[in-house]
Amino acid sequence: MPHPTTTTTTHARHKMPLKIAVLGAGGGIGQSLSLLLKTELRSTCLAADAAIHVALYDVNRDAVAGAGTDLSHINTPVTVTWHAAAAAAAADEDPLATCLRDATLVVIPAGVPRKPGMTRDDLFSINARIVTQLAHGIAAHCDLSRTFVLLISNPVNSLVPVLVETLVADSSSSTDPDIAKTIARRVFGLTQLDAVRASTFLHAALGCGPSDRVRVPVVGGHSGHTIVPLFTQASQSGAQDHKLRAKVLALSPEVLEQLVHRVQFGGDEVVKAKNGTGSATLSMAYAAAQVAQAFAELLLDLRPDLQDTLYANIGAFSNTDVAKQVTKITNGLAYVSLPLTITKDGIQAIDLQWAHNLSAEESKLWTTCVRELEGAIKH
Ligand code: NAD
Ligand code: LMR
Repeated sequence: MPHPTTTTTTHARHKMPLKIAVLGAGGGIGQSLSLLLKTELRSTCLAADAAIHVALYDVNRDAVAGAGTDLSHINTPVTVTWHAAAAAAAADEDPLATCLRDATLVVIPAGVPRKPGMTRDDLFSINARIVTQLAHGIAAHCDLSRTFVLLISNPVNSLVPVLVETLVADSSSSTDPDIAKTIARRVFGLTQLDAVRASTFLHAALGCGPSDRVRVPVVGGHSGHTIVPLFTQASQSGAQDHKLRAKVLALSPEVLEQLVHRVQFGGDEVVKAKNGTGSATLSMAYAAAQVAQAFAELLLDLRPDLQDTLYANIGAFSNTDVAKQVTKITNGLAYVSLPLTITKDGIQAIDLQWAHNLSAEESKLWTTCVRELEGAIKH
């Protein structure tokens, strides 16, 4: 019988190891994400010549032990351990503490998913309790000046504030006088699934070839009208951007409107198709794995920074000149998803170029988004 925290593979490596904790690893997203981390981070592990350890945690003992054991049979150098809350009474130490200790990247897909007829906001009470409990664990067992936290659980728009506020409250005895800002620079809500959907749907609408990688910036939040895809600012790798934009602008207003609607309500499509058994898991795991890999590369010094659009406490940047522009553009929103540059010290820069290039229709979408986000943040 394997012990719930059995280490599957041990490789002596030369650099500081990286530990990634996945909280809620036994669920639909958690299991798929853990598989992608075990397999996709192989290249990161080898490029950095560093050990990568993925620690799985869930309150569902069978799910996390099953996933952990299953993953442990995959022959990549990424190490996997699993930690089940149900074993707490019997264990010498809280399994959440064991999972989180020394982790510098924490990904949270723990929480209840929607059923048809529900909004993401309907999940707030139950998932806020789960996220608050996990936040207490992170504050107690992680070094918040070094750790990045990525939240997947819904509703992202109002749970990221809960997560940040809990971490800050639990750090009131910190010796860092700027601990609240330190935390705000390192805690993010994941809205990448919207960008993945926008890219997929635009790609299909334009009939792009298999080798064309279309990127669509998506700003705002992660729910209905707070999701603002900027199709007119789509880009492609290489120097094809102007051709791509000309093709986007040649789409009829009706087609563009349908594309926007499909991205804003893409989650509903999956909830409906799953017919009461959950919401998007595989596409979310794909999106989260890409973000986690970029953070892994950052933490292992394979890149100096990363650029991504993430939901964060932008309000914490109120003293900088850029923040004045952000305040103007966002009407003073405390939390919003914007294109960010992130180094090992957390958010370093906010890219506002998108706001100066909005089409008339995108400006209207942004105004609606800001109004809805204001309500969600105050939840
Ligand atoms: P799921 O029910 O399949 O998995 C959730 C897991 O969380 C379960 O294994 C459960 O045991 C675990 N869990 C519950 N309470 C816990 C706790 N206190 N500590 C640790 N683990 C706990 O759900 P799912 O489909 O994986 O979705 C998870 C969440 O992600 C939902 O809230 C869903 O709405 C959200 N989601 C967000 C996005 C996004 O774009 N950000 C996309 C898809 C889903
Ligand atoms: C999604 O966009 O697919 C997720 O937020 C899950 C949901 O509830 O729609």
